[in-house]
Amino acid sequence: MHRVTLIRGDGIGPEITAATLRVIEAAGALIEWDEQLGGVAALNEAGTPLPDATVASIRETRAALKGPLTTPVGTGFRSVNVALRREFDLYANVRPAATILPGGRYDGVDIVLIRENTEGLYVGHEMVIPVAGDPKAVAQATAIVTRAGCERIARFAFDYAIRHGRRKVTICHKANILKASSGLFLEVTRDVSERYHGRIEVNDVIIDAAAMKLVLDPSQFDVIVTTNMFGDILSDQIAGLIGGLGLAPGANVGDRAALFEAVHGSAPDIAGKGVANPSALILAACLLLDHLGEAAAAACVRQALVTVLRDDGVRTRDLKGHATTVEFTDAVVRRLA
Ligand code: NAI
Ligand code: MG
Repeated sequence: MHRVTLIRGDGIGPEITAATLRVIEAAGALIEWDEQLGGVAALNEAGTPLPDATVASIRETRAALKGPLTTPVGTGFRSVNVALRREFDLYANVRPAATILPGGRYDGVDIVLIRENTEGLYVGHEMVIPVAGDPKAVAQATAIVTRAGCERIARFAFDYAIRHGRRKVTICHKANILKASSGLFLEVTRDVSERYHGRIEVNDVIIDAAAMKLVLDPSQFDVIVTTNMFGDILSDQIAGLIGGLGLAPGANVGDRAALFEAVHGSAPDIAGKGVANPSALILAACLLLDHLGEAAAAACVRQALVTVLRDDGVRTRDLKGHATTVEFTDAVVRRLA
């Protein structure tokens, strides 16, 4: 029996979490959920968006499944997602994207993007500098890139590629312009790649060219490793190649804990209507099962999900279907029976 922290999340979070729990149970995976609060739900019930009890639970279970959390824009509390990444040093963001529905823009896309999750421009070291009466004349942001940070994400990416039988790792960077920061990332990832010589193919591509090549021919990519902001942008682009956010899962992995979630947010526009697509969170739960060593259960769930979407044609509205969240979940559970 595995113990896993569960945060249902805000907006559509409770609906897609309920669906995901039904599917995991139907797959026969034995998980004892330690349910905790986070986000707006936590603010309302416990007076803080990230209660100590939630952090303590993840410290103990070392694994969490999390629905999307609403973050107020501009003002209000800081992102709980970012706080959890920092608290547990979840340095690797793994975002696999594979075509499920044929006849889309691209058949046969199968790319895993591995994004450095703690450094780069997203450390948020920013300031405005007033000049001659203009309080916002200049804005400055500082990117932090460390040798140790590059080393560990590079090793993670190559180890991941080997463990998952992938053929190639592409390093995406902007070392031609950002010679110090992106230059260090390229230098260190290339050095690390030497240790995998003969076991895995390696190349490097400048980030803007990579964006174009992804659209022209995604099949030339397999595993991508890149820095924080480039990875954020490319992973949404890659999700677009396979039909959108409703099918894109992600894992945030560190040495002390791992947190699994959908790439999408709390979708306030459709919350409570019972029409959300639970697939991304179900696929995130499959990544959790893999992480727990329950690969067989994960494979069963993926197979059932693909069959329902592809063969049974049961799809939610975002995929141009008519099924509600519950109808879609019923169909997946039926396939697992
Ligand atoms: P969003 O991803 O919540 O929604 C974007 C669009 O996609 C909306 O039209 C929504 O209805 C649709 N959509 C998203 N997931 C869907 C699903 N499973 N099924 C069907 N349609 C779906 O992005 P948005 O609106 O920018 O953000 C809403 C809130 O979510 C914000 O507070 C934001 O901070 C938060 N957020 C949280 C994340 C997390 O917890 N990891 C990640 C991204 C955003
Ligand atoms: Mg993003």
